[in-house]
Amino acid sequence: MDYKQYISVVEDFPMEGIRFKDITTLMQNGEVYAKAVDDIAEYAKQQNVDVIVGPEARGFIVGCPVAYKLGLGFVPVRKEGKLPRETVKVGYGLEYGKDVLTMHKDAIKPGQRVLITDDLLATGGTIDATIQLIEELGGVIAGIAFMIELTYLDGRAKLKGHDIFTLTQY
Ligand code: PRP
Repeated sequence: MDYKQYISVVEDFPMEGIRFKDITTLMQNGEVYAKAVDDIAEYAKQQNVDVIVGPEARGFIVGCPVAYKLGLGFVPVRKEGKLPRETVKVGYGLEYGKDVLTMHKDAIKPGQRVLITDDLLATGGTIDATIQLIEELGGVIAGIAFMIELTYLDGRAKLKGHDIFTLTQY
């Protein structure tokens, strides 16, 4: 599947100089969205995954349907102040900006094999922070799946040592 033809590239969004990769056009096509989910679910099976973790908001769009397809649980990683129970938290840098990510403390059991999902790998900051949260709770990173990888930002270097699966690259 050539996923690129379904992804929109938007110039100067959300600020000048950024060529935003918009997956909503891919999602609007039921057949293509389903194929993307199936490809990531196949990868998750190969990696022997117990649970799926995704950062808000677009990590949910990728991870939740994969979790449903495989009959696995899904754990949301959210920005600070959104999760109601006891959390672990970590600060991180974005391609443009800074933030804090949190995850419920009881969400991952020690030794569980985790698949992390997101729409896009840019600098890797979001996923690096997500890995820290999972590892703090004793989870094992079984793999990381993205719809899109921006190779020119070299997020892979930041996530060195982890297995990464991407549907398409720019
Ligand atoms: C975007 C994107 C990834 C992250 C990639 O999310 O969905 O999660 O940035 O960038 P990085 O590899 O440099 O960390 P954003 O933080 O904009 O949140 P959103 O999905 O809620 O819009």
